[in-house]
Amino acid sequence: MSIIDSAKQAAQGLVQGAMTKLVPLAPDSWIPGGVPDPLIARKHGLIGKPVSRLDGALKVRGDAAFAAEHRFADMTYAALAYATIARGRIAAIDTAAAEAAPGVVLVMTHLNAPRMATPPVFGSSPSAVGPADLSILQDDRIHWNGQPIACVLAETQEQADHAASLLRITYGAEPSTTTLAGAKANGIEPGLFMGQPLLNEIGDAEAAFAAAPHKVDRTYRTPRHNHNPIEPHAATLAWVGDELTIHDASQMVTQQAQTMADTFGLATDKVRLTSPYVGGGFGSKGLWDHQVIGAAAAKLARRPVRIALSREGVYRVVGGRTLTEQRVAIGADADGRFQALIHTGLSVMTPQNSMPEPFILGTQAAYAAPNILLKVEVARMNMLANTFMRAPGEAVGTFALESAIDELAVELGIDPVELRLRNEPDKDPTNGLPFSSRHIAQAWRDGAERFGWHARPPRSTRREGEWLVGVGCATGTYPYYRMPGAEARITLTRDGDGVKALVEVAAAEMGMGTSTTTAIVAAERLGLPLDRVEVGYGDSAIPGAIMAGGSQQTAAIGAAVIAAQTALVGDLIKLAGNDSPLAGLSPDEVGCDDGGLGSLADPTRRESYASILGRSQRDSVSATKAGSLPLETMHWSMHSHSALFCEVRVNTVTGETRVSRFLGSFDCGRILNLKTARSQFRGGIIMGLGMALMEETQFDERNGRIMNPSLAEYHIPVHLDVPEIDVIWTDIPDPHAPMGAHGIGEIGITGVAAAVANAIYDATGTRVRDLPITLDKVI
Ligand code: MOS
Repeated sequence: MSIIDSAKQAAQGLVQGAMTKLVPLAPDSWIPGGVPDPLIARKHGLIGKPVSRLDGALKVRGDAAFAAEHRFADMTYAALAYATIARGRIAAIDTAAAEAAPGVVLVMTHLNAPRMATPPVFGSSPSAVGPADLSILQDDRIHWNGQPIACVLAETQEQADHAASLLRITYGAEPSTTTLAGAKANGIEPGLFMGQPLLNEIGDAEAAFAAAPHKVDRTYRTPRHNHNPIEPHAATLAWVGDELTIHDASQMVTQQAQTMADTFGLATDKVRLTSPYVGGGFGSKGLWDHQVIGAAAAKLARRPVRIALSREGVYRVVGGRTLTEQRVAIGADADGRFQALIHTGLSVMTPQNSMPEPFILGTQAAYAAPNILLKVEVARMNMLANTFMRAPGEAVGTFALESAIDELAVELGIDPVELRLRNEPDKDPTNGLPFSSRHIAQAWRDGAERFGWHARPPRSTRREGEWLVGVGCATGTYPYYRMPGAEARITLTRDGDGVKALVEVAAAEMGMGTSTTTAIVAAERLGLPLDRVEVGYGDSAIPGAIMAGGSQQTAAIGAAVIAAQTALVGDLIKLAGNDSPLAGLSPDEVGCDDGGLGSLADPTRRESYASILGRSQRDSVSATKAGSLPLETMHWSMHSHSALFCEVRVNTVTGETRVSRFLGSFDCGRILNLKTARSQFRGGIIMGLGMALMEETQFDERNGRIMNPSLAEYHIPVHLDVPEIDVIWTDIPDPHAPMGAHGIGEIGITGVAAAVANAIYDATGTRVRDLPITLDKVI
């Protein structure tokens, strides 16, 4: 059964009666000065309905092939050996026992690996997604404890794992920096994020802070976090001649294929990377050493390779979130109005990577203050390159900022919701731009009412047996982005009495529902039922380049689909010709509905797609178009927002915290798919609960080794840790965003840790300023 077929059942019922209104064209209508997108002026058809994932049934049945489930004839299995020192060189590798082990096909080290270029590091060009500015298996240098230094290929995974365990490696260790104190002593430098300095200075914040009558000045700490998508990283690769096919798990399909091509000195079209199904990414499903090593080994052995990292392997090879130390200092007048807002601190990264944790990003547009100082500085340590992790910056930055605001609310005796509303900015406080759509006050009002916030008992007064009960709140925020480069190709093909549409975009789907939401948007635009639309994605052969990152993919796809649909309508009117009821109409005088085009002024003038194709004796018509440049972000300050409410129970005997209630009240523009949106918000909140209470990479400062590389020792929330999570949203469309929609992928995690910490303070009177809030810190 195809995705289309399985979608039929899921979409039945929703489709009925959905296509009753003409949808006029709205080319680039979100550009300043344009007219509002008609799809966002009102809810229409499938937009905002709960549509199940179109590929859900395939996944549940096991019919969706993930990266490590592809097979090639004569395939081999890879196992990696990881360095056990933090810095130095490989003195010798004794491979004799491994090579003699049963089933072994190849032992590859830096001594026999093919020559490859250093994968261009993330940010060095639009298509560069290398993890760090380091070559892979090209020399004897060791840069982190856990670096892959040898690869064994064998006939089975078990044989490969066994042989890798027989490698005998001797090292020449060199001085390394694996302590935070040592990293600071080596020197601190200004932080850069995507080439931009992480620094904002408005007025004289330190002087205003010193003069303010009320103030808080605190330091907050967040630990390293490792990525734990349920699907460990994997790739299945084969060379045919000088062409490389990769079945990968990727949230940056096109860019990863290009970076592989650059690494192996290949033309772009010689690498084909597919990744239709990904079992979670959250920032981590990009290019790491394993795909490069797998491709190199396949080349050397002249056989296809499956390289699937073990869970420990993910901790050694795939970077996560780095640690931070943050100062938040707020000076306020007696009314609670901020006179100074200071958010500064330190993040740690490696000498070779490009990703400090940009924890001030969320603070830039959060609150009004005449004096603002925001700054991230960086110290360097010998460790695995860190990377993006769901809401990099905002996730940990909001913990510090929103904890400090709660502390100030206590100091002032002002309700923390009220304190936040008193400091609502009327324009972006750091760049001066107007907000495109900001309804955070409504999110607070709606959330407070639903949660019963204003009826809460006084602080530290609720006790149920051994349990102290308290509530807390916090704001979450994440910017709206839209990366350029997205293209869409729409092909209408005659099918029985009607047509079907294929919409192809070079997008990545990590499981969050992108392919489904793309189908919804395209179906709405084209005036076709959902079961007439198929989406092609997750394949580097599709033109254009999109990325599931920065919570911007849906907007980028939407802009491209709208552009392609607009072009397609122009082509269809030409094809329709003089005999059509549409004759003489220009593209902006027609709309799409009910499987065809109709005059906006006179609905009796219409012709179906099938009729137009039939009369012009064509089986299909196709249009390809790139989305417009994201000019909206130059004119407006654009963000997703949330108001979060949490209730906790803290055990007076053990110090254990249980989250008993959570409400997320979101303001993220128009919600396109109610069902997948709710899951994304909840998933983000669950990750936030993990960040608040349990997640912590244990890093051995003596040698730079990660000590808890398993789900047994690195704790993430399980079902019993997660209460019923209530989610509501304003659903107010942003007139300046395609489809009125803001990103919703990353906002969910932001602010959550602060809401939990603030609730724990409310329950116990104990303020914990370093994550995770484990029981030893509360008791
Ligand atoms: Mo996200 S951290 O942009 O996958």
